[in-house]
Amino acid sequence: MRSDDSVRPGAVVTGGASGIGLAVARRLAATGHEVLVLDADTDAIAAASGGPPEDSAAPGTVSFREVDVRDSRRVRAVVDEAMSGMTRPHLLCACAGIKPPVDIATLDEAGWDVVFDVNVRGAFFAVQGALPHLSATGGSVVLLGSASAHGDHENPLYGASKAAVIGLARSLAAAAVDTGVRVNVVVPGFTRTGMTRGMSPERLAAAARRGVGGRVNEPEDVAAAIAWLAGEEAATVSGAVLHVGTAAGIPARFGPLASAVGESPDAYSA
Ligand SMILES: NC(=O)c1ccc[n+]([C@@H]2O[C@H](COP(=O)([O-])OP(=O)(O)OC[C@H]3O[C@@H](n4cnc5c(N)ncnc54)[C@H](O)[C@@H]3O)[C@@H](O)[C@H]2O)c1
Repeated sequence: MRSDDSVRPGAVVTGGASGIGLAVARRLAATGHEVLVLDADTDAIAAASGGPPEDSAAPGTVSFREVDVRDSRRVRAVVDEAMSGMTRPHLLCACAGIKPPVDIATLDEAGWDVVFDVNVRGAFFAVQGALPHLSATGGSVVLLGSASAHGDHENPLYGASKAAVIGLARSLAAAAVDTGVRVNVVVPGFTRTGMTRGMSPERLAAAARRGVGGRVNEPEDVAAAIAWLAGEEAATVSGAVLHVGTAAGIPARFGPLASAVGESPDAYSA
């Protein structure tokens, strides 16, 4: 046991077996956190738990557990149990999210429910399991929004779910202010992850032109913002919606990405 193990901060990251969540988990581990990742994708867990060789030098730890966040009781119980065993629960970061393509004319109830069950309900019950522990230690919550919350003609269901996530976070921030738990949202611009894999080079180039600094995000860009929100420097920041890689008005200002690259509207947009 290392001498700093007695004060090691702990974090639970849902959807942390790939993309932004995995970057968050690795960044926190590199700064000494004990991280538990919950994810439904066993292949992604197997790939991530192998990890790059430099991970072995990280002062913290990342462990993985298969949990589908649609199972509300289980996700709440697993977060509660995990944080009970942590020396200093510090962060609940809900990254689990999906964006299946949607046809407004044919979307059915099951198609609607799965997106809200993962993106909104899954986030809430993970937070519910974490709140008592975070209030005891002055920890925080970070949820993942999207610029689609401002309106997404290509995927109104995803846009609605992410608007709900932002409303949820701001409401929880207000509700938790007396407990000392901070609740914030990070809104990633286009980020190179599984969710954006398969995007055409033209669309990627168009997304980069709209990105801050003329590029798309890497998952580590988003993880840096999440780590900052979770850290001491943001000790009085709660209810914030922090855009990373996309200025808040950009989607409205430039119009749909599909039309910018001459694609049909069913292609990807973040
Ligand atoms: N990539 C982008 O450009 C972008 C833009 C805006 C917002 N986001 C949001 O960022 C978050 C992370 O997405 P990402 O880009 O890293 O995508 P990703 O697909 O790489 O990661 C999402 C993770 O969530 C997991 N997941 C999906 N359904 C789950 C479930 N039911 N239970 C548990 N885990 C589940 C997946 O297995 C995956 O590991 C999501 O909430 C997404 O909506 C991403």
